[in-house]
Amino acid sequence: MTNTTNTSLPAAAAGTFAIGGDLPVARLGFGTMRLPTGTFTGPVRDPEDGIAVLRRAVELGVNHIDTASFYRRGDVVANDLVRRALAPYPGGLVIATKVGPVPGPDGPFRQATPGQLRGLVEDNLRELGVDHLDLVYLRVGGQNAPGGEPIADRFAALAALRDEGLIRHLGVSNVDAAQVAEARSIAPVAAVQNAYHVQATADAALLAECARTGTAFVPFFPLGGGLDPIDTTRLEKTAARHGATVQQVALAALLAASPVMLPIPGTGSLTHLEENVGAASIQLTPEDIASLAG
Ligand SMILES: NC(=O)c1ccc[n+]([C@@H]2O[C@H](COP(=O)([O-])OP(=O)(O)OC[C@H]3O[C@@H](n4cnc5c(N)ncnc54)[C@H](OP(=O)(O)O)[C@@H]3O)[C@@H](O)[C@H]2O)c1
Repeated sequence: MTNTTNTSLPAAAAGTFAIGGDLPVARLGFGTMRLPTGTFTGPVRDPEDGIAVLRRAVELGVNHIDTASFYRRGDVVANDLVRRALAPYPGGLVIATKVGPVPGPDGPFRQATPGQLRGLVEDNLRELGVDHLDLVYLRVGGQNAPGGEPIADRFAALAALRDEGLIRHLGVSNVDAAQVAEARSIAPVAAVQNAYHVQATADAALLAECARTGTAFVPFFPLGGGLDPIDTTRLEKTAARHGATVQQVALAALLAASPVMLPIPGTGSLTHLEENVGAASIQLTPEDIASLAG
C-alpha cells in the first residue's frame, strides 16, 4: 500500500503531517465516535448515513480516521462502518484506534489489564479487516482529565504487540506530560490524543512538547463536543469576517495553532462533514486568533 496524501483535495488544504515520520495524512481528519449515536445518550443513527459520511470524507481527501471498538450503540459499531464503507482500503488511508477501556459489569468503562490488551487489539484487527493497525493509542483513565496513574505495564504490553508487527505506531490518550514521558521510556510515541479546543488549551505546554519532538497532537472534542463546550459568541465576528461558520473557525484555529495539530471532528451529518473539511482552507490572521481564546 502506498503512503501518499492527495494534496490537491480539500482536507489537505492546511497541509500534511507524517504520523510516526512515515504515515503522511491531511491535517484535517475525521473521528467516528458520532456515527453510531450523535450524543452520549441519544438514539442509534442509521448505519447507511455513517457509511455515506465516511465515503464522502475520503472523497474530500480525509485519510486520517480515528476510531475505536468501543464506539458502538446497539448493533451499530463504528469499526464495522469503517470496514463496510472503505474496504478494500485506499492506499494512504491511516486508521487510528484506541484500546484501554472495557465495559464494566455495571455498564461504565473500567481499564483493561495489560493481559487484556492483546484481545482488544485483535478485536480491532477483526472489525476493521486488517492484518495490522496503523496507530493504536493506549486510552488512559475515565471521562475526567488525566489523573497521573502509572501506564508503563499497559504501554509495554502494546509495545510488545508492535514488536510482533500487529501495530505500526503507538500513541497515548488522555494523558499528562509525565505519562507521555513514561510511555516514551518504553517505546516511541507517535501521537498524543487529548481533549483540546480553541478555548480549552490547558495542554498548550504538552502541545509545544509534541511540536518539539515531531509527535502528532490529536485534539479530541475539537468542537467542544464534551463537557467543556465552546463559547461560540467569541467566534462569531471572526466567522463573519471569513464568511465561515463558528465551527469552521474553531477548527481553523486549531490548525493554525501548530503544524503537529491534527483535528478529528466527529459528525454523522454530510453537511457538517463538508463544512468541517472546508475549515482546512480558512487562514486566520494573528489578530483573529488572539480574539478567540477563552
Ligand atoms: N481519546 C478520547 O478519549 C476521545 C474522546 C472523545 C472523542 N474522541 C475522538 O475525537 C473525535 C472528535 O470528538 P467528538 O466527535 O466527540 O466531538 P466534536 O468533534 O468536538 O463534536 C462533535 C459534535 O459536534 C457536532 N458537529 C460536528 N460538526 C458540526 C458542525 N459543522 N456544525 C455544528 N455541529 C457540528 C456533532 O453533531 P452531528 O453529528 O449532528 O454533526 C457532534 O454532536 C471523536 O469522533 C473520536 O474519534 C476521542
